[in-house]
Amino acid sequence: MLVINNVSKEFGNFCALRNINLEFTNGVYGLLGPNGAGKTTLIKMITTLIFPTKGEILYNGIDIVKLDGKYRDRLGYLPQEFGYYKSYSPKQYLLYISALKGLVRHKAKNRVGELLKLVGLENVENKKMRKFSGGMIQRVGIAQAMLNDPKVLILDEPTAGLDPKERVRFRNLLAELSRDRVVILSTHIVSDIESIANEIIMIKDKTVLYKDSIKNICKIIQGRVYETEIDFDDAQNFRKEYLSLSEKQENGKLVVRFISEQSIENNWKSVSPNIEDVFLYVYNDENLVQES
Ligand SMILES: Nc1ncnc2c1ncn2[C@@H]1O[C@H](COP(=O)(O)OP(=O)(O)OP(=O)(O)O)[C@@H](O)[C@H]1O
Ligand SMILES: [Mg+2]
Repeated sequence: MLVINNVSKEFGNFCALRNINLEFTNGVYGLLGPNGAGKTTLIKMITTLIFPTKGEILYNGIDIVKLDGKYRDRLGYLPQEFGYYKSYSPKQYLLYISALKGLVRHKAKNRVGELLKLVGLENVENKKMRKFSGGMIQRVGIAQAMLNDPKVLILDEPTAGLDPKERVRFRNLLAELSRDRVVILSTHIVSDIESIANEIIMIKDKTVLYKDSIKNICKIIQGRVYETEIDFDDAQNFRKEYLSLSEKQENGKLVVRFISEQSIENNWKSVSPNIEDVFLYVYNDENLVQES
């Protein structure tokens, strides 16, 4: 449906992305990488806001630049910096965006009503957005991206600032939306896509390192993740020898989860890797922003 063919992007002399090859069918895709990895750059190319220096992006076999308006009619986009109007109600705002997008007034009214229900804001549809929580604003953002019932829905860092309850709601909404469209979302917070993405795309060194299901990606470090208890005094040496993934204090000891490439010791417990472990392993040498 959506195919990225050997796409590279340069800004002057700086290469932001190199030889990206990807294919998307209906479902949720999580674009994962630390700050500056190139997620927004890739997303902006998929939304035709910027153009590849090399390569092409095809929608149903045709270059999206050639499709132009026909492609954009099928595209929904929530930018990383989403601009809304605090003194508008969600209903006013969505009607305003509908007008900008050229929807006929009576159709727009119906669609806005449907969407407010879909994102669970019908009870506050006439309230000013000034007092909305991060999650409520984000749902307004998703609703505006959904106005034209897009076949390709792109969300750039949509989970920043959501509380746990809002995250669950967001997950369920995306699962529903992805039944009949491609949904691509970017994040540097692993736990946010762990349970919603059908596939994860990991960007490293300006290119795609992995594109696979979470289950398969976790296999990369299968058999190398352990947990053990150590004394606090030994922590520093331990970290020098092994890649520590997480640490917690328990009964005066330190329980560490770590990666070891070598043979197993007696008091180590082998554990199954999760996507967060893989993330830490893959981006070990980069500056990470970790949240949970
Ligand atoms: N218009 C531009 N001109 C020059 N360099 C740019 C431009 N846009 C992005 N870059 C550079 O390209 C790289 C990738 O940036 P991008 O914004 O795509 O990263 P990101 O993965 O979205 O990061 P974040 O998680 O912080 O949003 C960065 O080094 C950035 O400085
Ligand atoms: Mg970005």
